[in-house]
Amino acid sequence: MSKNADRLFHAARKAMEFSHSPYSMFPVGAAILAKNGEVYAGCNIENASYPEGWCAETSAIAHMIGSGQNQIVEMAVIAAKMPGATPCGGCRQRIAEFAKSTTPVHLCNNDGVTETVLLGDLLPKSFSFEE
Ligand code: THU
Repeated sequence: MSKNADRLFHAARKAMEFSHSPYSMFPVGAAILAKNGEVYAGCNIENASYPEGWCAETSAIAHMIGSGQNQIVEMAVIAAKMPGATPCGGCRQRIAEFAKSTTPVHLCNNDGVTETVLLGDLLPKSFSFEE
C-alpha cells in the first residue's frame, strides 16, 4: 500500500469511529488528501428525519472546503459492515466537483486498502461545466 493510501485509510477509519448513525447502524468514514498535503476526514451523520442525514464523503469534502482547500488528490472510503464499499451516486458527483477523472479512490476493509479505483471509472461521462 502506498504511503498516502495508508495514511488516508487510517484517517478514514478513525473518522468512522465518530460516525453518528444510530438509525442505519452503518458507520462510514472518508478521508481526502488535498493539494496542500493535508488530510481532511469525515463520517456520516444521521438524524431522526432519515433523509436529512449525509454521507462521510460529504463531511470530508465540507471539512476540506471549510479549510480553504478545493482539490482532491486522492481519497479513501471505508464502511465497517461493507468491505470495499464505494461512494454513493450523489457523493460521486460531489467528489467530481473537486477531483479529476484520474483521481484515485481507495476502497477499504477494516485492515487497509483492498482496491484503488479511478473516479472516472466510478462516474463515467459525468455532468460537468468543465471541458
Ligand atoms: N453512506 C455514506 O456515508 N457514504 C456512502 O457512500 C454510502 C452511504 C451512509 C449514509 C447513511 O448514513 C448510511 O451510510 C447508510 O446508507
